[in-house]
Amino acid sequence: MLVTAEIIAKVYYPALRAATRSTILQALCEQIVRDERAHVDFQTQQLARLRAGRRAGPLLLTRALHRLLFLGTVLVVWLGHRRVFEASGMGLVRFWRSCWTEFGHDLAAMEPETRPRWSWRIATAAAPAGADGRGAGSPLGGGA
Ligand SMILES: [Fe+2]
Repeated sequence: MLVTAEIIAKVYYPALRAATRSTILQALCEQIVRDERAHVDFQTQQLARLRAGRRAGPLLLTRALHRLLFLGTVLVVWLGHRRVFEASGMGLVRFWRSCWTEFGHDLAAMEPETRPRWSWRIATAAAPAGADGRGAGSPLGGGA
């Protein structure tokens, strides 16, 4: 999943920024982090919507597999970019904790709401209901 790499990018690019003296590279890192935050926000919202209809079992399996993928990706990034982290002063423990903190927040954002927003119960509760249960503000309409 692309979002996995983007979550780690939110830790990697600040480290790269700290590791360089190039003002151009620092500016690029700052822009990339801003972009990745927006991308992750968008993707977690979309994943939450996609997962809304899943049962508890498949949802649990999805979470477990995503954690496994994340774990492997964190290790690969550490091994492949160790010099960047060392130059930035970020050790493995801090990198590890930072990645899992980001992942924890973003994994929570991927959780589907308990009740879909489009459900009948929410629509009727939010709008004044007529005798047929269709309020004027209902997406199904109440006029005519
Ligand atoms: Fe991205």
